[in-house]
Amino acid sequence: MDVLQELETRRNAARLGGGERRISAQHSKGKLTARERVELLLDDGSFEEFDMFVAHRCTDFGMENERPAGDGVVTGWGTINGRLVYVFSQDFTVMGGSVSETHGQKICKIMDMAIQNGAPIIGINDSGGARIQEGVASLAAYGEVFQRNILASGVVPQISLIMGPTAGGAVYSPAMTDFIFMVKDSSYMFVTGPDVVKTVTNEQVTAEELGGASTHTKKSSVADAAFENDVEALAEARRLVDFLPLNNRDKAPVRPFFDDVNRVEESLDTLVPDNPNMPYDMKELITKLADEGDFYEIQEEFAKNILTGFIRLEGVTVGVVANQPMVLAGCLDIDASRKAARFVRFCDAFEIPILSLVDVPGFLPGTSQEYGGVIKHGAKLLFAYGEATVPKVTVITRKAYGGAYVVMSSKHLRGDFNYAWPTSEIAVMGAKGATEIIHRADLGDPEKIAKHTQDYEDRFANPFVAAEKGVIDEVIMPHSTRKRVCRAFASLRAKKTHTPWKKHDNIPL
Ligand code: HXC
Repeated sequence: MDVLQELETRRNAARLGGGERRISAQHSKGKLTARERVELLLDDGSFEEFDMFVAHRCTDFGMENERPAGDGVVTGWGTINGRLVYVFSQDFTVMGGSVSETHGQKICKIMDMAIQNGAPIIGINDSGGARIQEGVASLAAYGEVFQRNILASGVVPQISLIMGPTAGGAVYSPAMTDFIFMVKDSSYMFVTGPDVVKTVTNEQVTAEELGGASTHTKKSSVADAAFENDVEALAEARRLVDFLPLNNRDKAPVRPFFDDVNRVEESLDTLVPDNPNMPYDMKELITKLADEGDFYEIQEEFAKNILTGFIRLEGVTVGVVANQPMVLAGCLDIDASRKAARFVRFCDAFEIPILSLVDVPGFLPGTSQEYGGVIKHGAKLLFAYGEATVPKVTVITRKAYGGAYVVMSSKHLRGDFNYAWPTSEIAVMGAKGATEIIHRADLGDPEKIAKHTQDYEDRFANPFVAAEKGVIDEVIMPHSTRKRVCRAFASLRAKKTHTPWKKHDNIPL
């Protein structure tokens, strides 16, 4: 047989994966195949495959008679808007996308290439887990992948797309990556499935309730976003990659922008209501600051009292962390602290500057918070901000009270530019609470209390005391915030800092 013809025949067989019947079954579940996903993720025609003919080496349980080319995972590299990425995509049509020794080796090969060549790793997960016929060889394969996830962390961005089952120890590879996207109704992640849960705890729960997209984006925060279908999730992964640098020595790409850096937003002058207890939508400020109003939110459905995500200023990626007064008055709690701390650490690891927008009345009080360890979790955010050496610009819009004032990228945590709007109140706590403590003896006299409260407000319910002390660099007009923030970041492009030598820190986990 003509060898050229043989190559083509072998390629066609490999491309068919588990065969037409299983491909139809995959489509009938609303899922794309491993190859269709890769095609949609990458620029047209840019995919270059590795290891198309790799087959497993197992000879137990009659496995020697079934050795499909590729062994259940499609691996290789390509581009997203012209920028290099490495990708693996598990093929559920081949033995349920289960992970054998060789399947794991294929994934490790492209992970090694990605680390060596400094490009993101995107993993598309759709797998029945460890290849049952291979036993410990399969567990070893997972272990090798895990170790590479750890080595790659902070070196190249790692993105996991969960597009089918991910169960047992297999969940720990995505768990160690930077971002996890799920697809509603067709993906799930759990350490033990519904049957084991029923046996051990007697709880009756569906796979979707236990580990579906809604559970992980709203309750557990394991996943960062959930999408309607594979196509949408893949398109969003492309958008996310556009915000990120290829590796930790690279800068995020500078995109062309058509928005005026000096754009004045008069509406921001009235964003903060006269009544300090009235909420307003912090997202409005973010979109009014961003180039073309584009805000790529991360963990939108979790801990809504804090907003995290990416914008561009003058075409440059900036990570935004912002208290949201619409939810829990913008208080910091366990979930918000964890969410924001992880985001800040991602930005710092990949040299993405951080903009913090502050309106925070403090940490959320209560037994559930204390018993849950709000001290340790709050410390995560404090620690993350304090260790971050990227350019840090902070704008206080209203409240900045107590410990939360310090935590939210204050001057004391090496904030580079700390701005405040004239509506800012920077104090140990709100005037009412403060009065009740320092004038306890007058509590029975409402008139005196009202006067003390007014005195406290006059003294601290403004940014000027902080500005006098230099812990606020400048009180700025709300309408000019975009210009001020853009100029601040522009001046910090060559920032360098010094941190004492250490092996690594010991962030309060
Ligand atoms: C080998 C597997 C497999 C596995 C599925 N298949 N999982 N083959 N090892 N782990 C094969 C099936 O035999 C079947 O082959 C094909 O994949 C499709 O599976 P179905 O069961 O027909 O599909 P579906 O009904 O959609 O169910 C999917 C499933 C189920 C829920 C994932 O297959 C399942 O429960 N699989 C076992 C999951 C599991 O227990 N894995 C081990 C978890 S522990 P044919 O030839 O019929 O198409 C683990 C540890 C990792 O992963 C540890 C890391 C440290």
